[in-house]
Amino acid sequence: MSALIDPNGRPVDYLRISVTDRCNERCLYCLPENYANWLPRGEILSYEELLAVVRTAVALGFKKFRVTGGEPLVRKDVVHFIGELIATPGVECVPLSTNGTRLPELARPLFDAGLRRVNISLDALNPATYRAITGGDVAPVLDGIRAVKQLGYDSVKLNTVLMRGKNDGEIFPLLDFAAKHDVVIRFIELMPVSLTEMLNETNFMPMTEVLALLRREDELEELREFHGYGPARYFRLKKRGVTVGLIGALSDLHFCERCNKMRLTCDGKLRPCLGNHLETDLKPALRPQIDEPHLKNLFRATLTQKPPEHLFRNNYQPQRVMTAIGG
Ligand code: 5AD
Ligand code: SF4
Repeated sequence: MSALIDPNGRPVDYLRISVTDRCNERCLYCLPENYANWLPRGEILSYEELLAVVRTAVALGFKKFRVTGGEPLVRKDVVHFIGELIATPGVECVPLSTNGTRLPELARPLFDAGLRRVNISLDALNPATYRAITGGDVAPVLDGIRAVKQLGYDSVKLNTVLMRGKNDGEIFPLLDFAAKHDVVIRFIELMPVSLTEMLNETNFMPMTEVLALLRREDELEELREFHGYGPARYFRLKKRGVTVGLIGALSDLHFCERCNKMRLTCDGKLRPCLGNHLETDLKPALRPQIDEPHLKNLFRATLTQKPPEHLFRNNYQPQRVMTAIGG
């Protein structure tokens, strides 16, 4: 099955699935303080409903399905769901995005369920800095990273959202940590995707500046073959011996050029773009019973709305928290 092509000529074959909006952390850039507006449980799609969406997406040419949240590993029975997702015919690639806090106990069961690719959020190594940003404890996350490396996962990437004055001092310690553990690290520019006040002129750290800093301190080689369809630009830091990806949604003017993805929120809204308010409610095709032809039509209709690029540069005001959209 060949991929669907969007109105801008881009093949779209990647769906990011948020399995919950809940999270056991509270990152500065993600959730407002005292946020308690979690979706009621009945609003969240069941695993059965999610797998029906996946089968429909496969029939339309989707091949890659990322499991995200919120924090996906806080949802009950998520390991079993991931196993079922991996076993679904036509599903070729299932990566997981996690904050890593539950990896010490789940790295092994997830590996046994067939998971081989994981992105782990790590905004700082220093425990106090990590706590100031996420509200949590960094030690289990570091244990989780070691656990997935020891088990032999094929792809382990760290994700760091950079904020000036908060964790810009962590750039080189994090690079050294990534080099030591033989993992790729990606630095991510703050995006206006959350209902928090973090993104402002003081906190914003453009990737252009990070790149200049890396060039001053190391010898860089751009890895074009690494680029794939993702929005990151990858570089090899020759002195440190580490691969770093830079994700600059605001400063990279080519950011959306090869976008191949759509997003499914945990309450069943299909979103053609992270930086746009457009969404299609799939629930009418899922409840009271699953209606595959209807689902297919909703997918196709949503794809025809896929915008050429995000609206982040136009004073974008998010209407949902990131945890409800899926990172
Ligand atoms: N800006 C940039 N990245 C964000 N993430 C969450 N909120 C934001 C934001 N406002 C990232 C997290 C995680 C990934 C799933 O999304 O760092 O690594
Ligand atoms: Fe949780 Fe991820 Fe949001 Fe942080 S960014 S609060 S880990 S969902």
